[in-house]
Amino acid sequence: MWLYLAALVGLYYLVRWQRERQVVSHLRDKYVFITGCDSGFGNLLARQLDMRGMRVLAACLTEKGAEQLRAQTSDRLETVTLDVTKTESISAAAQWVKEHVGDRGLWGLVNNAGIMPPITYCEWQKTEDCVNTLKVNLIGVIQVTLSMLPLVKRARGRIVNVSSILGRIACMSGIYCCSKYGVEAYSDSLRRELQHFGVKISIIEPGYFKTGMTDMNKTLEKMKQTWEEAPEHIKESYGQQFFDTFYHGIKQGLLGPCTNLNYVTDCMEHALTSVHPRTRYSAGWDAQFYFIPLSYLPTSLADYIVTRSLPKPAQVA
Ligand SMILES: NC(=O)c1ccc[n+]([C@@H]2O[C@H](COP(=O)([O-])OP(=O)(O)OC[C@H]3O[C@@H](n4cnc5c(N)ncnc54)[C@H](OP(=O)(O)O)[C@@H]3O)[C@@H](O)[C@H]2O)c1
Repeated sequence: MWLYLAALVGLYYLVRWQRERQVVSHLRDKYVFITGCDSGFGNLLARQLDMRGMRVLAACLTEKGAEQLRAQTSDRLETVTLDVTKTESISAAAQWVKEHVGDRGLWGLVNNAGIMPPITYCEWQKTEDCVNTLKVNLIGVIQVTLSMLPLVKRARGRIVNVSSILGRIACMSGIYCCSKYGVEAYSDSLRRELQHFGVKISIIEPGYFKTGMTDMNKTLEKMKQTWEEAPEHIKESYGQQFFDTFYHGIKQGLLGPCTNLNYVTDCMEHALTSVHPRTRYSAGWDAQFYFIPLSYLPTSLADYIVTRSLPKPAQVA
């Protein structure tokens, strides 16, 4: 009985592997537009696809980032500056992409740009940080997608949206999780609606990786500043001792991010080049072996696991 089961599981993975390794043809003629290419995953993906011979249209937030990327890549890669929170900037980038791709359309759109707000409890997160996070991580994804969609439909291409494993289970920085849950929901809706147009949507869910966004010193600095600027009633309610313990807990948790960004960019590349891309790619050991199983547990059990090591606020009954 167990042998048959093991053979069946083995067969399933063999068929899946065989199916997923089929690569789309004429990659060198295909255009891919990537947001947030100044650093991190976007930057590495742009270089990776350029090496593979694809036509990369890389959007950077700053001209400096664009210059640095151009210096590291072939003449085929082209850059544009794009702030995903600005409608005019998105419209200009869409026009620029349209002029480049012509009648072929856009094969791939990678919505990668994102920011991390200070890690805090929801109660002391500043409204402006919440709004900014949603603007970049969610509204930016939606606006860029809507601007590029006619071009992607023309190519019967791909949309690759970068969510996070925190888009599957909410812990740490509630507003960041909201933005990524939004990306998951939007991507699921798009996938179901666009199937008849031949457009495929993939979601990338990275675990914890070492990039500019996760720089430990910057993260801790932002966290401290948000606490210091919190209203007095919050400080009284939670207490300084609570914050100190929470801060040190986060500091410990931030040690040892995964440094191999290829785990993530290889998933993105697969989503863009495989004949049969996956709907979801969870990248990193922590994502696959901790967060995904955690997300399937009964809520009460997941709550216990997530909160068991958190300190107690000062003013609790
Ligand atoms: N690192 C992780 O552990 C992790 C885990 C899960 C998900 N993610 C997601 O992965 C994606 C890439 O992040 P990353 O880790 O590679 O961090 P990163 O190195 O900071 O990359 C984010 C990129 O987005 C750009 N950006 C920021 N605000 C923008 C805006 N308003 N318009 C356009 N571009 C903007 C940044 O430009 P500047 O560099 O000029 O600021 C940067 O190039 C994000 O969506 C993030 O949420 C990361």
